[in-house]
Amino acid sequence: MRSLVRETHLDPSDLILPVFFDANIDEVKYTGSMPGVPTYPLSGYGSIVDDILGSGVSSVIVFGVPKKKDAVGSDAYSDDGVVQQATRGLKGALDGRELLVITDLCMCEYTDHGHCGVLREDGDVDNDATIELYGRIAVSQARAGADIVAPSGMMDGQIDAIRTALDAEGFDDVPIMAYSAKYQSAYYGPFRDIACSAPACGCGARKDRATYQMDPANRREALRETATDLDEGADIVMVKPAGPYLDIIRETADAFPVPLCAYQVSGEYAMIKAAAANGWIDEGRIMMESLVGIKRAGADMIITYFAKDAARMLRGE
Ligand code: PBG
Ligand code: ZN
Repeated sequence: MRSLVRETHLDPSDLILPVFFDANIDEVKYTGSMPGVPTYPLSGYGSIVDDILGSGVSSVIVFGVPKKKDAVGSDAYSDDGVVQQATRGLKGALDGRELLVITDLCMCEYTDHGHCGVLREDGDVDNDATIELYGRIAVSQARAGADIVAPSGMMDGQIDAIRTALDAEGFDDVPIMAYSAKYQSAYYGPFRDIACSAPACGCGARKDRATYQMDPANRREALRETATDLDEGADIVMVKPAGPYLDIIRETADAFPVPLCAYQVSGEYAMIKAAAANGWIDEGRIMMESLVGIKRAGADMIITYFAKDAARMLRGE
C-alpha cells in the first residue's frame, strides 16, 4: 500500500556518476576526503565500464586532471586532452552496450591558477575570451564522442557561445546541460582535492570564484541565470549544490518546464561518508533519504557520488 501511494520514486536511470581520470597516474588512486571515489588512469576502460554498468548506472559525467596545467588551460580543448582521451576510451570499451557520457566543460582543472577561465591583466577572469575557448572545448569533446556537454564555468553568454560553436562544426545534435544556478560553495572542497583545482596560485588572482559563481544568499538570481541559459539554448538546466539548495530546485522546477538536474556535490557526499565512518548515522538510509529529498524537491536527475551504491540498493542488492 505504501508503494502505491508513494509520491516520489528513485530509479537507477535518474542517477549520473561523476568519473575522474588523471593523465599523470598509472594505477587507480583514491583521495582521502572522498572515500570510495576512484581516480582512474587513462587505461583499463573495459573494467571501468563493467563496474559502472554492472551497478545499474548508465550515465556518467567525466572530469579530468591533465598532464600539464597552463595559464590558458590548453589541455581542456586539446583533442588529446585527458577528458577527450577518457571519452574515447569509455565509448570504445562499450562493445554494443550503452553508457551516456556527459563531459564537464570548464577550465579550472586545466589552468595553473585554478580559475574557470583565462585571466585579464588585473587578475579577474576575462569573460568573453573565456567563452570563445569554451566553444573550442565543446567541439573537441563532441569530436571525442561526448553525448552531452555540461558547461560549469558560470561565464555570461557561455551557452550561446557553445551552441554556436557546436552547430558550426556539425554537432547540432549534441545537447547542452547547463550548470545554470551554480553557487559559490564551500561544499566543493573535496572535489578540488581530487582535481587540484582550487583557485590559489600565488599569482595575484582572486582566491575564490565570487566574480562568476552565485552568492548563496540569492534565489531570484538563480531563476534569472536559468532563464538566460534557456534563452541561449540550454537543453537541461542544473542547480548545484543540491541538499542546501532544495528551495532553488523546487522554484526552478516550478518555473521552467524543462529537464532539471541537481548536483549532490563532493562536500555533501563527504559529510555523509565521514559521519557514517564514525558510526554516527546509517549510511545507506541517509544516502537514500538525501537522494529522494532532491527528487521530491523537483529534480529529474541527480549527479551523485553515491550513484553506484544507490543503484545497487534500488535493485535490491
Ligand atoms: C568545475 C566544477 C566543480 C565542480 C563541478 N565542476 C568545481 C568548482 O566549481 O570549483 C564541483 C563538484 C563537486 O564538488 O562535487 N567548475
Ligand atoms: Zn571551473
